[in-house]
Amino acid sequence: MEKASVETETKKIQPQILYYGTPVILLTTLNEDGTVNISPLSSSWALGNYIILGLGTGGKAFENLKRHPECVINIPDPALWKNVERIAHYTGKNPVPEDKKLHGFTYNPEKYETGKFTAIESESVQPARILECPIQIEAKVNAIRVPDYCEEFSIVETEAVHVHAHKNIIIEENHINPDKWSPLIYNFRHYYGLGEKLGVTFRA
Ligand SMILES: Cc1cc2nc3c(=O)[nH]c(=O)nc-3n(C[C@H](O)[C@H](O)[C@H](O)COP(=O)(O)O)c2cc1C
Repeated sequence: MEKASVETETKKIQPQILYYGTPVILLTTLNEDGTVNISPLSSSWALGNYIILGLGTGGKAFENLKRHPECVINIPDPALWKNVERIAHYTGKNPVPEDKKLHGFTYNPEKYETGKFTAIESESVQPARILECPIQIEAKVNAIRVPDYCEEFSIVETEAVHVHAHKNIIIEENHINPDKWSPLIYNFRHYYGLGEKLGVTFRA
């Protein structure tokens, strides 16, 4: 087998962000007036039925989840990156927190319209889903932790209640077909799709 060329020299750096390439999710949460907010996130990981989110405490999603502990984790594919970016500089929080203002955020209570997304009712949670996202996971919040070493961020522990998937990415009735599904990747604040398939793990 041909050996990959590997760089071996390193340099110590201090990047401002460590967003090394994770899927974008669009978190829908319930506003106090019964409408639904959409928050783009990239900090999430799943183990079993549990999905853990890294959520800023200054945003509307955090406020909403504390009051109403249900959400939908809508997962867009690369075709939706422009829709995601359409809502990227808005917050559902009014008034807009000072540090968000500094970064150019403005208030927008209508992110479905702005992002050209369609709301679709959920089965078991109150926040709506996003029709255009190929995977939509209804979830309840089990815990919200704000670490004492950093109050800007919270660790939100959710548990999937239902998983909905577009029919064209489902294989054998009950599985996501990895040849048909591709997440939208947030790679150091740039959007990417997946490259070519490289191989498969022994448990696939
Ligand atoms: C692609 C993308 C990924 C993001 N990832 C996160 C994240 O993981 N956690 C977070 O708190 N904010 C993240 N943000 C910023 C939030 O979207 C931003 O704080 C926004 O105010 C959230 O909306 P809300 O205030 O209405 O909840 C991300 C933004 C974009 C565009």
